[in-house]
Amino acid sequence: MRRSLCLVVLFIFAMSSCKRQPEWEVARDVHSYSNPAQVRIRHIDLDLDILFDQKILQGSVTLTVERNRRFPEAPLVLDTKDLHIVKAEIAPEFGPFRETSFQLGPRDPILGSALTVTLPKAARRVRIQYATSSHATALQWLEPAQTAEKKHPYLYTQSEAIHARSWIPIQDSPAVRVTYSARIRVHPALRAVMSAEMLPEMGPDGAFQFRMPEPIPSYLIALAVGDIDFRPLSVRTGVYAEPNVVDAAAREFADTEKMIEAVEELYGPYRWGRYDLLVLPPSFPFGGMENPRVTFTTPTIIVGDKSLVSLVAHELAHSWAGNLVTNATWSDFWLNEGFAVYLEHRIVERIYGRERAEMEAVLAVEALNRELATLPEKDQVLHIDLKGRDPDDGMTEVPYVKGALFLRTLEKSVGRKSFAAFLRSYFDHFAFRSITTQDFLNYLKANLQTDVPVTDWVYKPGLPAKADLPRSEALQKVAEAASSWMANKVALKSLPTSSWCTQQWLYFLESLPQDLLPARMQALDAAFGFTRSQNDEILAQWLIMAVRARYKPAYGRLEEFLTTVGRRKYLKPIYQELAKTPEGIKWARAIYAKARTSYHPITAHTIDEILKERVH
Ligand code: BES
Ligand code: ZN
Repeated sequence: MRRSLCLVVLFIFAMSSCKRQPEWEVARDVHSYSNPAQVRIRHIDLDLDILFDQKILQGSVTLTVERNRRFPEAPLVLDTKDLHIVKAEIAPEFGPFRETSFQLGPRDPILGSALTVTLPKAARRVRIQYATSSHATALQWLEPAQTAEKKHPYLYTQSEAIHARSWIPIQDSPAVRVTYSARIRVHPALRAVMSAEMLPEMGPDGAFQFRMPEPIPSYLIALAVGDIDFRPLSVRTGVYAEPNVVDAAAREFADTEKMIEAVEELYGPYRWGRYDLLVLPPSFPFGGMENPRVTFTTPTIIVGDKSLVSLVAHELAHSWAGNLVTNATWSDFWLNEGFAVYLEHRIVERIYGRERAEMEAVLAVEALNRELATLPEKDQVLHIDLKGRDPDDGMTEVPYVKGALFLRTLEKSVGRKSFAAFLRSYFDHFAFRSITTQDFLNYLKANLQTDVPVTDWVYKPGLPAKADLPRSEALQKVAEAASSWMANKVALKSLPTSSWCTQQWLYFLESLPQDLLPARMQALDAAFGFTRSQNDEILAQWLIMAVRARYKPAYGRLEEFLTTVGRRKYLKPIYQELAKTPEGIKWARAIYAKARTSYHPITAHTIDEILKERVH
């Protein structure tokens, strides 16, 4: 009796201390200087002016912090990169701010500088006045000429993986989640969009006001400012884009609501309120970015036939895989991307049919195999060691496609229904949390009976022998068509191309030998007009072949492409191909000298490396 009373008292004590003491355990993140195990930020409030003439953001951020009582003396350590810190102030929960001291550490080229703020015990809020640098790595400032309307300048951010610190002093680790609010002042002709709910009323000073009530990692904080219009697609979805793009965008993305319903049926409710898309100018360095409530996308997927909208499916999938359940460190990136690719294929299958989904999966696996052939073994594993490296280096096909194949193989081993139920409970179990690969493996072990060699998949290079690989008869036929033409058995005009979709055209180009003679290129161009293609996915593939074949008639278009499109996935292989020959690298450098200022810093960084590496 006494013993059980004792236990009850102990239990009550444990419960009450649980309540007051948050969970302080946090995954060690080699890409952040911050100290979330000691002091953790819980909410950030941004107050920023967007100064287009100086290309800077200026204002303050107020961080609400919580202290681990085991570290009563600890300062608050934040990540910054090239920020100009004007002042740091502290305040209790209620009451006025007063100045406190801070120290900015040495600058690491990848990580930036630690900002250490002295934090007295009673402080609950920290306000930092600061300005960004004009070369902040997360920001791209566009001249009017680089936009679709060509009338107004444009600004957008790209925070993933570790660029949030170049526009906000923050604990820039995906293991740390914050809610946020913001007031953003812009020129009256412009609109601001953020990865948050836009409040209906403007602030007293004409500021756009936003609120993100769910805790998110810092890499999902996003802002865009420009001449941005809006078209609703359904009650909870819509598109933002420049006025002369917005209608085409709305047509291309008309299936968005259907996609959300498909995921909800499989994996549980969409938990972010609205789902909108923002179409950026063509210099956007990625295909898409899953900023919560508003996916950022490249305009290069607006091709008129919805053939590239699997990208929308992918970014939408992140609303579960990535945004709801988040990689705790960049070594766990496959938990975001592999899951998103797996979900993407399930969505595409539901909306556009199995054939299309399998074609896309085959193309992805081919890309994976090509990349595996070039990667060192240590980079062929799902859980990758990124110590001392830029997390962008981990952004290969491995976390995406090998990750997705792992899940596909698990699905095969237990059946679709059980695997869908497993994933649904996984998303529920870890909702709004950041987890490591080990957390996932523990959950898998406890909740799914499978004979798949799980640790081989995660920790060994290459692909395990029993991977469940996609197959597509339609693509098989395309490959046969390509080889018949190469063997001069059939003329181009008698190939059954009238029914081919984008994925078949892509596979056709990939199936051709990669060292075609210019005469072959000429024949292809005469028959199918690849150089004039309006589909950038097809065009980019063609342009790589043009460089390899030194097919000069495409060089005008190549120059136009390199100076207008900023999508790194397209530019990187083209520049890499050019850099293989002395005359190619010379030509590339001349184009790049003109194009560089129009690229996002992330893309420019990649191309800098390619063009400086080889000295001829
Ligand atoms: N989250 C990524 C983009 C990203 C990853 C940005 C790492 C910075 C660092 C996004 O979801 C993505 O994967 N985009 C792909 C398209 C997708 C369909 C595979 C892209 O941009 O190419
Ligand atoms: Zn993704």
